[in-house]
Amino acid sequence: MKTLRKSVRFYQIWVFKLSDPIHIPVLKEEVVFFLNCKKGKFFVDGTVGCGGHAKAILEAKADTFLLGLDVDEEALKEAERVLVPYEGRYHLVEANFAKIGLVLKSLHQEKVDGILLDLGMSSLHLAQAKRGFSFLRTGPLDMRMSKKGSLTAELIVNRWSQARLKEIIQKYGEEKWAGRIAKCIVEERTKAPIQTTTQLAEIVAKAIPRRYWPHHIHPATRTFQALRIAVNNELENLKQFLTQALDCLTSGGRLVIISFHSLEDRMVKKTFREWARENKVRPLTKKPVVPTQEEVKQNPRARSAKLRAIEKI
Ligand SMILES: C[S@@+](CC[C@H](N)C(=O)[O-])C[C@H]1O[C@@H](n2cnc3c(N)ncnc32)[C@H](O)[C@@H]1O
Repeated sequence: MKTLRKSVRFYQIWVFKLSDPIHIPVLKEEVVFFLNCKKGKFFVDGTVGCGGHAKAILEAKADTFLLGLDVDEEALKEAERVLVPYEGRYHLVEANFAKIGLVLKSLHQEKVDGILLDLGMSSLHLAQAKRGFSFLRTGPLDMRMSKKGSLTAELIVNRWSQARLKEIIQKYGEEKWAGRIAKCIVEERTKAPIQTTTQLAEIVAKAIPRRYWPHHIHPATRTFQALRIAVNNELENLKQFLTQALDCLTSGGRLVIISFHSLEDRMVKKTFREWARENKVRPLTKKPVVPTQEEVKQNPRARSAKLRAIEKI
């Protein structure tokens, strides 16, 4: 009964937030502060999304310039709409931040003063059932951030072996019930293909004994995270980006990364530490900066955000 009441409360919070059409940028003031937005500087927002952080960066100082990248053409359209008042001061490109070096080279801008990555999904993704990211809205099991990608969650769920499913759910979802979930998925798909988000969410919820359901998140959260990471090659993209990021910064240039799960945050933390040990950067955040309680109240999506920043020496 207690668990049920908690779940109901959880659904109410999220149904309310999902109906909100606008993506609220997380840790907005902190991003502007750590990027050191000063006159005449050139910034890259590698995950421009709905343009929330980009707008804040352009607003902070009058003659800054911003290059916004995103793999999602729908997000770029939204960013274009939001950034209309800053015409002439930004350029948007449909590109993966894993290719940042190449993108900058093609624009003859090899070094920039600051780069931001705000990883993960936007509210635009969650709000549209057809994108397949939300376990609360019935939609196709898609989960592609870029519609040009050929791998979908439906393909993984219906075609990958039980062992491979278990591996990604364990590794990318850090889900201790991965074995049972993978087994249930395989059992269900032999009856009929698993085609919708809510169908998968129910299978996952049934695979985990009710008394072990997590208290503050939906039982399918970790499995959905794992599938999303696999579909979008998220960890590999971040790794590729980190191998080029320092070369793309001027000396004194800043890199700010907001992550939403421990796999990404660990990679960022480890890389920033290595760079600091090699005297390549000055850490700007000893510990990750997290949102205040007030921000989380206004924007529950911010609750797991961690911001880390460095300055190139
Ligand atoms: C959390 S949202 C960013 C929201 C944005 N900061 C704002 O204030 O509106 C993350 C965005 O990054 C995009 N994205 C994810 N992986 C990407 C990648 N490898 N390269 C470029 N964009 C990516 C997603 O499509 C999404 O629009």
